[in-house]
Amino acid sequence: MNTDYKQMAGRLMVALDYPDAAQAAELVQKLEGIPCYMKVGMELFYTAGPDFVRSLKEKGYSVFLDLKMHDIPNTVRGGAHSLTRLGVDMFNVHAAGGLDMMRAAKAGAEAAVAETPGLVMPVIIAVTQLTSTSQVVMNEEIGVGGTVEESVVRYASLAKKAGLHGVVASSLEVEAISAACGRDFKTITPGIRPEGSVTGDQARVLTPGQAIVRGSHYLVVGRPITTAPDPRLAAEQIIEEMIGA
Ligand code: C5P
Repeated sequence: MNTDYKQMAGRLMVALDYPDAAQAAELVQKLEGIPCYMKVGMELFYTAGPDFVRSLKEKGYSVFLDLKMHDIPNTVRGGAHSLTRLGVDMFNVHAAGGLDMMRAAKAGAEAAVAETPGLVMPVIIAVTQLTSTSQVVMNEEIGVGGTVEESVVRYASLAKKAGLHGVVASSLEVEAISAACGRDFKTITPGIRPEGSVTGDQARVLTPGQAIVRGSHYLVVGRPITTAPDPRLAAEQIIEEMIGA
């Protein structure tokens, strides 16, 4: 396995959006040997829980637990403490929860690390505007004014102020985030669609190659892999496109 391949595969986060552990495990088996990040979201976690996350860690995967916490600071502190003890490499909260809530997430994770020998501090990121949110939805339904990019950059700056390590956004906004928060501030970008694939409910989309060119640190890909006739081939083609970019 050459270095380029290994590095790019490590920047691909496969969204294991399945209703049960058996189906998710089947995909993991199909992708065996590809050193990608695995993303566990609410659909899988709410049914398969911590045991499934532990099984991924036992197989050597880096795990992003995408539960998008958004609650009062005390509750988020406790949630972050529990997720950190589970040994995940990355988890997230909603930036819309505010500065105190994001600081509480970090404090919860730090407390868990301090209490538990051998535990490493996870990367904590904030969701800015969901990639399914368009400008019209943001302005007219959510009630946030301005452009999506302005809102994303404002949330990213707030997340940085809270001491978090990065944000979830569309790769369309990566340049503006990096300009405001620095290149080390991580950008995790869903809304990735290879040429010719179905957009579905995503509104702000780019291809894997475009996302890499724009500087996304990690690309989150779900349905273009999970619903492909040959998921392994789909993942390999995405990694090849990332390398080529
Ligand atoms: O299937 P698809 O490639 O659209 O999957 C995208 C994944 O990224 C889903 O698991 C979704 O929950 C997640 N996500 C997102 N937008 C965000 C944060 C997470 O699409 N802002």
